[in-house]
Amino acid sequence: MLIEKSVLESKRQIGEKIFQIKLRSPKIATVAKPGQFCNIKVSESDFPLLRRPFSISNVDGDSIFFVFDIHGEGTEILSQKEKGNVLDILGPLGNGFDISGDFTTAIFAAGGLGSAPFPFLAKVLGNKEIISFVGARNSSLVLQDDIPNPQIATDDGTLGYKGNVVELLSNYIVKHNLKEFRIFSCGPNPMLKALQKYSIENNFDCQISVECAMACGFGICQGCPIEASNGDGYRLVCKDGPVFNAKDVKL
Ligand SMILES: Cc1cc2nc3c(=O)[nH]c(=O)nc-3n(C[C@H](O)[C@H](O)[C@H](O)COP(=O)(O)OP(=O)(O)OC[C@H]3O[C@@H](n4cnc5c(N)ncnc54)[C@H](O)[C@@H]3O)c2cc1C
Ligand code: FES
Repeated sequence: MLIEKSVLESKRQIGEKIFQIKLRSPKIATVAKPGQFCNIKVSESDFPLLRRPFSISNVDGDSIFFVFDIHGEGTEILSQKEKGNVLDILGPLGNGFDISGDFTTAIFAAGGLGSAPFPFLAKVLGNKEIISFVGARNSSLVLQDDIPNPQIATDDGTLGYKGNVVELLSNYIVKHNLKEFRIFSCGPNPMLKALQKYSIENNFDCQISVECAMACGFGICQGCPIEASNGDGYRLVCKDGPVFNAKDVKL
């Protein structure tokens, strides 16, 4: 875990209230893995006090990309940063996706801002076959840049399949008789819960990247518990996660 003063190299608005920022952060960029996150101090003052967690969206040389939407005060402040500003970032944090072992095809399942970690995961998976399922409430919220072979689902049907991303994914798996895949997912908890149920019922290999409110981000404050499925107490989302095997935690 490193703390790095990182220069904002670019900021791009990529949707309504959605931004991509690129930070020069050579030390963190060198050791980061897909599915890990950084805690960004959005302001030099004491307000807001707590850092905000964001998935590492991609890494390019010495630079790290993040994608975020304006959610509340912290992300509002972050969205106002300009090229050349310096941000204090802590990372990489968390475990990241497990890409070890045998699987022929990687299936990405992303809901809303849950698309954020997948460009980096795709880059690290290299030539492996990837099929992506990207869901959002409507077409203006679909984030599919740098996501391979995206199949789109929108709740209101303004782009792609009308319905949720888990339905789209399950229909595709049946239609194409897919075997020997691993599902990597990130998105809002209701989506992850549906995917968790589906993958457990079908005995599919599935990893879920879970979001919850965080304070420290590295296991000290005990502020991010998630219940283990086996009855053995709690895990910490920031340290033991944010990525879990879908079988291992209760959402
Ligand atoms: C591991 C992880 C990765 C994340 N990756 C991304 C990402 O790539 N892009 C993105 O847009 N968002 C991401 N989030 C959510 C992002 O951290 C929150 O949207 C952000 O902290 C909200 O801050 P705010 O000050 O704007 O909102 P406020 O609502 O003002 O925040 C108030 C407090 O609640 C906490 N909080 C509020 N909503 C959330 C939430 N959904 N998740 C966690 N904490 C919350 C904040 O940390 C803060 O302490 C991630 C969260 C986690 C835990
Ligand atoms: S956020 Fe402090 S222990 Fe997880």
